[in-house]
Amino acid sequence: MSHLEMSTKHLLGIKYITKDDIDLIFQTADNFKEVINRPIKKVPTLRDITVANLFFENSTRTRISFELAEKRLSADTVNFSASSSSVKKGETLLDTVNNILSMKVDMIVMRHPAPGAHLFLSKHIDVNIINAGDGTHEHPTQALLDGYSMREKVGEIEGKKVVIVGDILHSRVALSNIFCLKKLGAEVMVCGPPTLIPKHIKKLGVHVSYDINEALKWCDIANVLRIQLERQNINYIPSLREYSMYYGIKKSMLDRLDKDIIIMHPGPINRGVELSSDVADSEHSIILDQVENGVAVRMAVLYLLAGKRNLAKT
Ligand code: CP
Repeated sequence: MSHLEMSTKHLLGIKYITKDDIDLIFQTADNFKEVINRPIKKVPTLRDITVANLFFENSTRTRISFELAEKRLSADTVNFSASSSSVKKGETLLDTVNNILSMKVDMIVMRHPAPGAHLFLSKHIDVNIINAGDGTHEHPTQALLDGYSMREKVGEIEGKKVVIVGDILHSRVALSNIFCLKKLGAEVMVCGPPTLIPKHIKKLGVHVSYDINEALKWCDIANVLRIQLERQNINYIPSLREYSMYYGIKKSMLDRLDKDIIIMHPGPINRGVELSSDVADSEHSIILDQVENGVAVRMAVLYLLAGKRNLAKT
């Protein structure tokens, strides 16, 4: 049975939360999913809370999803993007955040390019911090919404076989998904070109395959990642065309399997690279369900952490 509150004050990464925390987030998200499908999609739960959304990196889905989650919970929100802020004038992260907090903000949602930026902040400030992505490290709410969407589709995740395909080396989604799925008892495989698979990844208890057809045959669910060209300062792959030839998932590959598998992608998709359009838009794909579930899962995280906002640092 799950506990009734989170074990931590912050959501810095899936590494730092327990299976009970994940189960509690999923159960709470079930209630909020029902709320956001009502004609009036709003509850007064966080009406005395102000949340600052600090985005030091680009985002479409995560930023809009958090903002909608906050509005559905009746929180006040302020939005910050680094490109139009005084960060450009040389202000430090801590000074920026402390200035925003002095305006009586209760919670921070932050995306930052530096791995560990959230952990650093958590040692210096007293409000709840939710990691919306820290460089190549973790993207915990993406892993939670991925796990929630899998659970919605297949029931129990324990014992299910999930392959994460593509640029594992640069992906915060991959690491958070591995931590989340292992805590929930799934079998996890990573598949991609050897240059994009970290050397010591097996230490996390995952299988490794360099053959996409073998991986698809093995799995129940394929979570397919974007090739992150913006994080690659050397050529890990000869070209996107060659990547697509060897690792891109096409409809004919799914048709050859003797079972139906589920296709997921955190977005944004490079159509024709990781997935052909007839796979991304097929009945196998739950990509838009993932986006829908993101709002309910983020409402759950905000709600549960807000309940811990006056407690001592954890
Ligand atoms: N999945 C995800 O993090 O997408 P955005 O970069 O658009 O937020």
